[in-house]
Formats: sequence, structure tokens, C-alpha cells
Amino acid sequence: MLRVNDPLELFARTEEFRGRGARVGLVPTMGALHEGHFKLVEEAKRLCDVVCVSIFVNPLQFNNITDFDRYPRDVEADAAALEAIGVDAVFLPRVEDIHPSPVNMHISTAGIVERQEGAHRPGHFDGVATVVSKLFIAAGRASVFFGEKDYQQTRVIADLIREFHFPVEMVVVPTVREVDGLALSSRNRLLTSAARKAAPAMYRAFRTGRSRAVPGSATAPVIDGMRGAIESAAREAGAELAIDYLEAASGVDLRPVERFEADTRFFIAASYDGVRLIDNVAVFE
Ligand code: PAJ
Repeated sequence: MLRVNDPLELFARTEEFRGRGARVGLVPTMGALHEGHFKLVEEAKRLCDVVCVSIFVNPLQFNNITDFDRYPRDVEADAAALEAIGVDAVFLPRVEDIHPSPVNMHISTAGIVERQEGAHRPGHFDGVATVVSKLFIAAGRASVFFGEKDYQQTRVIADLIREFHFPVEMVVVPTVREVDGLALSSRNRLLTSAARKAAPAMYRAFRTGRSRAVPGSATAPVIDGMRGAIESAAREAGAELAIDYLEAASGVDLRPVERFEADTRFFIAASYDGVRLIDNVAVFE
């Protein structure tokens, strides 16, 4: 497995692959890899000839320095796991390889970023769009793989690709979950045992919400029931819960909806004992 730190070297290497007619796949990650990431790699391997995974904890997208500092990092274990599943190249830049100091320019996002994560994490999507652009430039023409778990991120990146004409094609991969329904996340390893016990209530509530939702009917009573179930599970487990948002919203523009429509999704962001998790599902499939 090739290991590359320098963006221009990644471009040169992927150019060689493309020169031989290979289709290149890029899987951007922040490391602390889990089965959700591996699912993206699996899809990339299925659709591409050469797969590159990037591991970079991007300081620009953390609006909270403590969150950045305590973000789990385990590069050697990650690289070994990627090698074992047959990844061709891993891109492991240092912060200064990606963002020279001082940083004089960045991408400024608008539109869909005003909702959900963007509303609760000022500057987050500017940081994501900026780093992802740098990764796209380094990887060149490629298929790029992102997870549906970060639904809003996939919408922002779709805008980024369209507006900047990146020669990349995005593939969105469904969310991988634990058996109890908790969406896999690098942050799960930071959960206290009470929080780990309480957090699957989010997905259970999604399922109950789905079973109650009827196209054209009001979303508010369904959401209220879901909120109650999530709160009582946290109380029972003894975990401190803070819900940033729990809503039924359009899968197209993320606007909250008063009545269920064909493309409505449930979205949640909640902190359990101080660890912030997000999840979403389509209401009707
Ligand atoms: P990270 O949180 O490491 O996630 C990397 C990719 O894995 C994202 O596309 C994310 O949606 C996907 N992913 C995470 N958990 C998943 C799960 N349970 N099932 C399926 N896919 C999952 O998202 C980022 O990093 C960063 O914002 C990044 C795009 C790398 C830019 O810094």
C-alpha cells in the first residue's frame, strides 16, 4: 500500500494510475476507522480500479477546540486495517501539508448550510468544503465516496462539485449501524457506558416514527412522541442528554416540514454525556 503525505505527490501518483486507464476512487475520512468507513471502501473497490483513502483530522471544520483535541486518532491501526482490506493508497497529510500557516483563503458556503449542523456549528461546512476541495484537487478525476449518515454533508458536497465543476462523481453509501441500531461513528468510542446504553433510542425512535408517519399527516405529534422516548431512555440509563435538533425535514433542502411528504427524513443531533452524535433516516422507503 502506497503512503503519501504531499498533495502534489498524490496527484502525480493518481495521474499515473489514470494514465494506465484505471478508474480512481477516493474515500475521505478523519480516521478512527470503523465498519462505516470500511463500507465506503468496499463500495469504492467495487466501482473503481484503484482506491485511495485519506485520513486527515481537519482543524478547519471543528468549531470547538476541545472537540478537535479529543477527536480519536489511531493512524497506525487505521493504516494496517486499510492495507488488510486491499486499499491501494493512503493519503496521510500533516496539518501543514494541507493548510499552510497562515491560512489566507477558504470556501464560503451558503444555502443549505444555514440549517441543522451549519446552524449549530458555525463555520463547520466552510471547513468541510475547503478541505474536501483540497482533497479533490489532490486526487484529480475520481469517484468520491461519502456516507449518508452525514446527510447534510452529502448535500453540501453535491453543491461544491456542481458549483466548482470538480471532475468527480459522488457515490453516497447507506449508513452502517450496530445491531442495536446506533449509527457507527468515530465518536462512539468516547461514549460513557450510560451514554452507550441510551443512544440507540435515537434509531428506535426513528423506527417508531416511521411506523406512525402517514403521507400528508402532521409531523409534530410524531416528533413529540419520538422526543419523549429518547428523553426517557436517557433518564433510565442515567446519561445526560441535550438534543440540538430533532426534526422531520425535506431531504432536498432540509427545511422542516409540518406534514409528511414523500422525501421527508428524520434528523437528530444530540449530545450524550457531552459526546455529540448525529443520525438521519428516510421516513418512507
Ligand atoms: P468522517 O467522520 O471520518 O467520515 C468519513 C466518511 O465516512 C463520511 O463520508 C461519513 O459520512 C462516512 N461515515 C461515517 N460513519 C458512517 C456510517 N455509520 N455509515 C456509513 N458511512 C459513514 O465526514 C468526515 O469524516 C469529514 O467531514 C470529511 C468528509 C473527511 C472532511 O474532513
